[in-house]
Amino acid sequence: MEFDEVIAKRKSIKAFKGKTASWKSVMEAIDAANQAPFADNRNNLKFIIIEDKDKIANIAHLANQTWISKSGIIVLVCSDDTNLENMHGERGRVYARQQAGAAIENLLLKIVDLGLSACWVGSYSDDLIKTKLQIPQNIQIEAIIPIGYAKSTFDKKRRAALENTIYWEEWGRGRRGPMFKEQEDEISAG
Ligand SMILES: Cc1cc2nc3c(=O)[nH]c(=O)nc-3n(C[C@H](O)[C@H](O)[C@H](O)COP(=O)(O)O)c2cc1C
Repeated sequence: MEFDEVIAKRKSIKAFKGKTASWKSVMEAIDAANQAPFADNRNNLKFIIIEDKDKIANIAHLANQTWISKSGIIVLVCSDDTNLENMHGERGRVYARQQAGAAIENLLLKIVDLGLSACWVGSYSDDLIKTKLQIPQNIQIEAIIPIGYAKSTFDKKRRAALENTIYWEEWGRGRRGPMFKEQEDEISAG
């Protein structure tokens, strides 16, 4: 799929067909996630792939989002801050969150490229899910990603207007400088 098409098609999908996505496709998506940028090139992530239907239903319940149970396979994105924190202190924890986000976006885009759909889920009880999946306390759960085949096609994504998200040269300046500033400066400099 063309890059722009992948970007445009990525959407949070929460209604899936009965057909389950293959674990091999999910592995491909995780491989894409692992190619995200990492501070010091330290990949702090672990991915738990869950195919067991009862476990998926239980996670849907623990996240209080029943639609998750309709996805045939989910990925839990986890991270370990230890190395980054030892290296960079408090900032290392910021890096850990940022690079998890970059990896998750790679994963979501590859999912689309493979003809699949997913949703980034961030609302759940860490403690309950850690207990269920035997995840150590020092490990962060960054996201739950339910994956499947979208039940229906979806509308074009809404997006923020460019002019509402861009400042020029400094915070709060909504307009680019004059178009011919360079030439005007040359003329006034003689
Ligand atoms: C950090 C994060 C947490 C999210 N958590 C949830 C969630 O718990 N449940 C859910 O249904 N969607 C969740 N979403 C999906 C957003 O609601 C969705 O991305 C947003 O509405 C924009 O829609 P789009 O992804 O289709 O462009 C989350 C997204 C992000 C980035």
